[in-house]
Amino acid sequence: MGNKKIVITGGTTGIGFTCAEYLLKAGYNIIITGRTKKNLDNAVSKLGKNAFGILSDTSSLSDIDKLVSKIKNEFGKIDGLFVNAGIFKAMSFEGTTEDLFDETMNTNFKGAFFTVQKFIPILKNPSSIVLNTSIVVFKAFADTSVYTASKAALESIAKVLNIELADKGIRVNVVSPGVTQSPIQKKSGMSDEAIDNLLEHFSATSPIGRIVQPTDIAPIVEFLLSDKSQVLRNEKIIVDGGTTM
Ligand SMILES: NC(=O)c1ccc[n+]([C@@H]2O[C@H](COP(=O)([O-])OP(=O)(O)OC[C@H]3O[C@@H](n4cnc5c(N)ncnc54)[C@H](OP(=O)(O)O)[C@@H]3O)[C@@H](O)[C@H]2O)c1
Repeated sequence: MGNKKIVITGGTTGIGFTCAEYLLKAGYNIIITGRTKKNLDNAVSKLGKNAFGILSDTSSLSDIDKLVSKIKNEFGKIDGLFVNAGIFKAMSFEGTTEDLFDETMNTNFKGAFFTVQKFIPILKNPSSIVLNTSIVVFKAFADTSVYTASKAALESIAKVLNIELADKGIRVNVVSPGVTQSPIQKKSGMSDEAIDNLLEHFSATSPIGRIVQPTDIAPIVEFLLSDKSQVLRNEKIIVDGGTTM
């Protein structure tokens, strides 16, 4: 495995950060991105050796261009890309504004779409891309309409990419987390009480008797990025403790 190079978008907190920690321990070199300098600096210093951070807003195509050119100059080609950066703001369908629609789609879908496109020239042959979607793609949750649309759109392109990018040795798979305890809930605009209720509900109703943690997602992402999954294409691994079965 040596020192394979993996880029994680949105690696400053939550699932992305925990995946970075896990992959570092497994011997990878990790480049994380985020849009908040303070979060990025904190994360890189906590991650330590073999972790690098680049400030980059995934909803900005010029930022993605700069990110790719910086990585190319400083690290050369990479072995894998975890397309993880994403946002969720809880809002009813009727209350969803154009601003919220654009912010969510620009980050979770447009940003992810062009991240994959612009990274192609610096992905090795072979290499692996993992898209972080969500169980909302196949199970309905109130107040998630635009978030659901953004994740469904992202998941839908995995099969097309597997055909178009096959001759470049690039494969694409999906990790689909259930409700996972992370800073995303607080950022969503939900009240502390609503967050507690959500986490309690999913702990109580899950066959595993607890909420999914980012540490449950990290080994799955590592598997999908590694040679252990080299024949998988358009595979979706649902990491939800069985709540949606
Ligand atoms: N937690 C869940 O229940 C759950 C379930 C299914 C799927 N997911 C997905 O998992 C991914 C990670 O979420 P999380 O739960 O770990 O939440 P999180 O802790 O809020 O992490 C989100 C990460 O994305 C970054 N980010 C957000 N907008 C960005 C932008 N425009 N440009 C660059 N980076 C950006 C954040 O960086 P900054 O802080 O610097 O902005 C942070 O590093 C998301 O795609 C989310 O939709 C989460």
